[in-house]
Amino acid sequence: MNDDDPGPRATEQLSVGQLAERSAVTVSALHFYERRGLIASTRTAGNQRRYARSVLRRVAVIRAAQRAGIPLALVAESFVELPTDAVPTRDDWQRLSAHWRGELDARINALEKLRGSLGGCIGCGCLSLEECGFVNPSDLVAGQGPGARAFDGPGPTV
Ligand code: FES
Repeated sequence: MNDDDPGPRATEQLSVGQLAERSAVTVSALHFYERRGLIASTRTAGNQRRYARSVLRRVAVIRAAQRAGIPLALVAESFVELPTDAVPTRDDWQRLSAHWRGELDARINALEKLRGSLGGCIGCGCLSLEECGFVNPSDLVAGQGPGARAFDGPGPTV
Protein backbone atom coordinates (compact mmCIF):
# COMPACT_ATOMS: atom_id res chain seq x y z
CA MET A 1 0.00 0.00 0.00
CA ASN A 2 1.33 3.47 -0.83
CA ASP A 3 0.36 6.77 0.82
CA ASP A 4 -2.17 7.54 -1.92
CA ASP A 5 -4.03 4.24 -1.42
CA PRO A 6 -6.00 4.19 1.82
CA GLY A 7 -6.38 0.39 1.57
CA PRO A 8 -9.33 -1.78 2.50
CA ARG A 9 -9.16 -1.10 6.28
CA ALA A 10 -9.23 2.69 5.89
CA THR A 11 -12.98 2.73 6.46
CA GLU A 12 -12.70 0.75 9.72
CA GLN A 13 -14.14 2.65 12.67
CA LEU A 14 -12.39 2.62 16.04
CA SER A 15 -13.82 3.20 19.49
CA VAL A 16 -11.98 5.67 21.69
CA GLY A 17 -10.53 2.74 23.66
CA GLN A 18 -9.25 1.06 20.50
CA LEU A 19 -7.78 4.33 19.29
CA ALA A 20 -6.10 4.85 22.66
CA GLU A 21 -4.67 1.34 22.65
CA ARG A 22 -3.40 1.47 19.07
CA SER A 23 -1.95 4.96 19.36
CA ALA A 24 -0.56 4.54 22.91
CA VAL A 25 -2.28 7.80 23.88
CA THR A 26 -4.65 8.08 26.83
CA VAL A 27 -8.38 8.45 26.30
CA SER A 28 -8.30 11.80 28.08
CA ALA A 29 -5.59 13.03 25.70
CA LEU A 30 -7.70 11.93 22.73
CA HIS A 31 -10.67 13.81 24.11
CA PHE A 32 -8.42 16.86 24.56
CA TYR A 33 -7.23 16.60 20.95
CA GLU A 34 -10.84 16.39 19.83
CA ARG A 35 -11.84 19.46 21.84
CA ARG A 36 -8.95 21.33 20.20
CA GLY A 37 -10.18 20.28 16.74
CA LEU A 38 -7.14 18.12 15.98
CA ILE A 39 -9.15 14.94 15.49
CA ALA A 40 -12.84 14.30 14.91
CA SER A 41 -15.26 11.49 15.58
CA THR A 42 -18.75 10.49 14.62
CA ARG A 43 -21.36 9.14 17.02
CA THR A 44 -23.09 5.79 17.01
CA ALA A 45 -26.81 5.43 17.67
CA GLY A 46 -25.80 4.80 21.30
CA ASN A 47 -23.86 8.13 21.34
CA GLN A 48 -20.44 6.45 21.44
CA ARG A 49 -17.53 8.03 19.62
CA ARG A 50 -16.16 6.35 16.52
CA TYR A 51 -12.95 7.40 14.80
CA ALA A 52 -11.87 6.72 11.23
CA ARG A 53 -8.75 4.59 11.08
CA SER A 54 -6.95 7.51 9.40
CA VAL A 55 -7.09 9.29 12.78
CA LEU A 56 -4.30 6.95 13.95
CA ARG A 57 -1.88 8.74 11.65
CA ARG A 58 -3.09 12.14 12.80
CA VAL A 59 -2.50 11.14 16.41
CA ALA A 60 1.00 9.92 15.52
CA VAL A 61 1.74 13.29 13.89
CA ILE A 62 0.34 15.18 16.89
CA ARG A 63 2.59 13.18 19.24
CA ALA A 64 5.62 13.77 17.01
CA ALA A 65 4.83 17.48 16.89
CA GLN A 66 4.51 17.62 20.67
CA ARG A 67 7.87 15.90 21.09
CA ALA A 68 9.39 18.53 18.79
CA GLY A 69 7.78 21.35 20.76
CA ILE A 70 5.38 22.41 18.00
CA PRO A 71 2.45 24.23 19.63
CA LEU A 72 -0.87 22.43 19.27
CA ALA A 73 -2.39 25.60 17.84
CA LEU A 74 0.06 25.37 14.92
CA VAL A 75 -0.69 21.67 14.49
CA ALA A 76 -4.42 22.45 14.37
CA GLU A 77 -3.78 25.23 11.85
CA SER A 78 -1.83 22.81 9.65
CA PHE A 79 -4.44 20.08 9.93
CA VAL A 80 -7.06 22.36 8.37
CA GLU A 81 -5.35 21.69 5.04
CA LEU A 82 -5.48 17.89 5.44
CA PRO A 83 -8.39 15.78 4.21
CA THR A 84 -10.75 14.74 6.99
CA ASP A 85 -12.29 11.80 5.16
CA ALA A 86 -9.16 10.06 3.86
CA VAL A 87 -5.62 9.14 4.78
CA PRO A 88 -3.37 12.11 3.96
CA THR A 89 -1.07 11.60 1.00
CA ARG A 90 2.70 11.96 0.97
CA ASP A 91 2.26 15.42 -0.57
CA ASP A 92 -0.07 16.39 2.27
CA TRP A 93 2.55 15.43 4.86
CA GLN A 94 5.31 17.22 2.96
CA ARG A 95 3.29 20.43 2.93
CA LEU A 96 2.59 20.05 6.63
CA SER A 97 6.24 19.43 7.57
CA ALA A 98 7.33 22.41 5.45
CA HIS A 99 4.82 24.53 7.40
CA TRP A 100 6.49 23.48 10.68
CA ARG A 101 10.07 23.95 9.53
CA GLY A 102 10.13 27.67 10.38
CA GLU A 103 8.81 26.96 13.87
CA LEU A 104 11.41 24.23 14.39
CA ASP A 105 14.21 26.49 13.12
CA ALA A 106 13.13 29.23 15.55
CA ARG A 107 13.09 26.75 18.44
CA ILE A 108 16.50 25.36 17.52
CA ASN A 109 17.92 28.90 17.36
CA ALA A 110 16.43 29.78 20.76
CA LEU A 111 17.78 26.57 22.32
CA GLU A 112 21.25 27.13 20.80
CA LYS A 113 21.29 30.66 22.26
CA LEU A 114 20.17 29.30 25.62
CA ARG A 115 22.87 26.61 25.52
CA GLY A 116 25.45 29.25 24.69
CA SER A 117 24.43 31.35 27.66
CA LEU A 118 24.55 28.46 30.12
CA GLY A 119 28.33 28.25 30.34
CA GLY A 120 28.39 30.66 33.28
CA CYS A 121 25.72 28.68 35.12
CA ILE A 122 27.81 25.55 35.61
CA GLY A 123 28.64 25.44 39.30
CA CYS A 124 27.01 28.83 39.92
CA GLY A 125 23.45 28.25 41.09
CA CYS A 126 22.58 31.95 41.61
CA LEU A 127 19.59 31.90 39.18
CA SER A 128 19.83 35.69 39.08
CA LEU A 129 17.28 37.49 36.89
CA GLU A 130 19.98 40.02 35.95
CA GLU A 131 22.88 37.65 35.31
CA CYS A 132 21.55 34.19 34.53
CA GLY A 133 20.88 33.23 30.91
CA PHE A 134 19.08 30.11 32.06
CA VAL A 135 16.48 31.98 34.11
CA ASN A 136 16.21 34.98 31.82
CA PRO A 137 17.61 34.21 28.34
CA SER A 138 18.32 37.36 26.34
CA ASP A 139 17.06 39.39 29.31
CA LEU A 140 13.47 38.85 28.12
CA VAL A 141 11.87 40.20 31.30
CA ALA A 142 13.76 43.53 31.22
CA GLY A 143 10.95 45.25 29.31
CA GLN A 144 8.26 44.17 31.73
CA GLY A 145 9.04 46.81 34.29
CA PRO A 146 10.42 46.69 37.82
CA GLY A 147 9.69 44.00 40.40
CA ALA A 148 9.49 40.22 40.29
CA ARG A 149 8.45 38.64 36.99
CA ALA A 150 7.64 35.08 36.07
CA PHE A 151 9.44 33.72 33.02
CA ASP A 152 8.08 30.69 31.21
CA GLY A 153 10.96 29.89 28.87
CA PRO A 154 11.84 30.54 25.23
CA GLY A 155 9.31 30.35 22.46
CA PRO A 156 5.55 30.26 22.43
CA THR A 157 3.73 28.05 24.89
CA VAL A 158 0.95 25.62 24.06
S1 FES B 1 22.90 30.07 37.71
FE1 FES B 1 24.17 31.74 38.07
S2 FES B 1 24.41 32.62 36.08
FE2 FES B 1 22.99 31.00 35.80
